[in-house]
Order: sequence, then C-alpha cells, then structure tokens
Amino acid sequence: MKKHIAVLAGDGIGPEITEGAVAVLKRVAEKFGHEFTFEPLLIGGAAIDRTGEPLPAETIERCLASDSVLLGAVGGPKWDSLPGDKRPEKGLLGIRKAMNLYSNIRPAKLWRALADASPLKEELVKDGVEITVVRELTGGIYFGERGRFGDEKNGETAWDTERYSVREIARITKIACEIASKRSKKIISVDKANVLESSRLWRAVVHAYAEKYYPDITVQDMLVDNCAMQIVKYPAQFDVLLTSNMFGDILSDEAAQITGSIGMLASSSLGDTKCGLYEPIHGSAPDIAGKDVANPIATILSCAMMLRDSFGLAKEAEAIETAVERVLEEGYRTADIFREGTKKVGCRAMAARVAERI
Ligand code: IPM
Ligand code: MG
Repeated sequence: MKKHIAVLAGDGIGPEITEGAVAVLKRVAEKFGHEFTFEPLLIGGAAIDRTGEPLPAETIERCLASDSVLLGAVGGPKWDSLPGDKRPEKGLLGIRKAMNLYSNIRPAKLWRALADASPLKEELVKDGVEITVVRELTGGIYFGERGRFGDEKNGETAWDTERYSVREIARITKIACEIASKRSKKIISVDKANVLESSRLWRAVVHAYAEKYYPDITVQDMLVDNCAMQIVKYPAQFDVLLTSNMFGDILSDEAAQITGSIGMLASSSLGDTKCGLYEPIHGSAPDIAGKDVANPIATILSCAMMLRDSFGLAKEAEAIETAVERVLEEGYRTADIFREGTKKVGCRAMAARVAERI
C-alpha cells in the first residue's frame, strides 16, 4: 500500500518524537511491504519563526492532499506573549478546523508493565484502566465568539462562548456509539447541565440520538466536576467517555496521568474522510526539548492509530502496539516512566527499540 504522510513536527520535543515515530513507520513499511512517504511541513512556533504565521496556507493545502497527518506538539515560552490569534496553539486549532476533524479519540490505558507507575494506590487500579475519551474537537468554547471590552468602572473584561448545535452533538455521539458498540455498550457522557444551557442541549441530544440509532447502548450522564473526582476514585467504572471540546481536554490529561505518564497517550482526530490527524496528547515540553529524554511512545502509538483508523492496516497497527508492550516488558523506560531496577533510555533509543521489535 502507498501512503503519503504529512509530518508536522512543531515545537519543543515535537521534532524528536516525530522523528522516532517516523522511524517506526519506516520499519512497518519495510516489514509489511508498504510504501510510506513523508513530507515535513511547518506549524506552530516553528512556522511563526519562518513565515510569521502559526499555520501557513501551504501546510493546510498539503495536509488536505495527504493520506494522513502526523503531528508532534506546538507551543513554548518563546511565543507566549503573542496575541491569541498569532500563538502557536492557533496553528493546531486551525488545522483541526481546516480538516474538519470533529472527533478526537484518546485511549487511556494502564499498561501491564507500567501498573506500578500509576500515582493511584494499587487497590484503586487493580481492576485496570481503559478509558476511551471521545472528545468533540471543532466546536464549543475553543471556537466560539470571544472578545474584550473595557469601561471605567470595571477595567478590561474578556469573554468566550460555549456553543453547540444539535448537528455537532449528534455527529460526535455517533462516533461514541460506534466505539461503544464494539466494547461495553456503555457511554458516560460528561456535561455541566446543572448550570450551562449548552450542556442541557448536549444531554438531550446525546440521549435522543443514542436511543434512536443505538438502542442497545446505555448512556449515563455525569457532571464534569463529579467525573473528575470519579476518575481518581474508581477509574475502572469508565469505558467510553463522551465529552465536549474543553471537558475532554481537561479530563483526558487526568485520565492519562493515572495510567502512569501523559507520555504514553496517543490520539486520533478524524472527520468525515479517512484523512486524519494523529498526535500525542501531551504538549511540547520545552524544558526537556532537544535533550533526547522525551518519551516517543505516545507518538508511536498515534501512528498505530493512523494505520488502523485511516489506512485500515490492523495487523500493522497491532505490530506496533505489541512491539511497545514488549519493549516495556523488557524493562526499557524513558525518564518519565523510569523506576529503580528498569533500564533508562533516551527518546531515540526507545523508538529504535520499538522499531527493532516489529
Ligand atoms: C490538547 C492540547 C491543545 C488543546 C492545545 C495545545 C491547544 O492541550 O491537544 O489537548 O487544548 O486541544
Ligand atoms: Mg490538552
């Protein structure tokens, strides 16, 4: 199979982790007889430095023409004082919107070899953790109207708006239902319906849609504050967690951390076509950038999701996941998951270990 992959390395540790992931994809191509080509493109702070824009038109064009996109991370202190619409993060939000990637899947799982890396007590995670966060990605407060105004009495005031339509809620509910029907058939839908009007619509549409089209699926509602608490109280109660854009951003970091390290969590973002965007859920970690200590596994696992979800290459995806599992079981660890008695390796070496085991 021939596939053309756009690579948006971005900032901070972005270049190292995408380099490691590309090495793994190259190994997959060699082993399974595929032809993958890679096209580096600018995004985020790196794009601002070169072109003055966080998302150059060429990047959008080339991503849309590719078979899928691999992204590292964006942002860093260097660009923190830029106005909102010129920040590196605007590049990431822009590419999600331009590619209409409304569905963001973030699987948080506790790897057997890393069970002791969870910050939760053993009794809380003994039943395992496997939470699939289904996050709406192109709506809500991230993309709502915003502004600032000022007056004498109050000084400056800033505002953002959370806004959701039936169409937006229904299409992400469909994705959650599809995933749940292959798993426990249970969805926990997160909202703040006791306060927010947009959440009341969210709740109503999720139920109406699921009841009509997926009658065998059970939907349970959970208020976001309670959900944040339940995730650390008894994570095994969650399977598919359906959320708005902002709640999913927050809860997926929390879910990731209880699995040991945010450096392990992959994600896929898809819309109505097979051309998706695959990225680790962690950020650019500027403090460790360029030191070859970052954990490339989240990005490598994102490539597995790309192979399965965009290219239909299930066997190849599994080969990556099994290789990661073996490397962890052999005791190799990057700094974020290192424990006494395991073998510490850098970013490049970790990616090489995984590639070797494919
Ligand atoms: C994520 C990140 C992004 C988000 C930032 C970098 C814009 O935190 O992918 O979770 O908030 O979506
Ligand atoms: Mg986030």
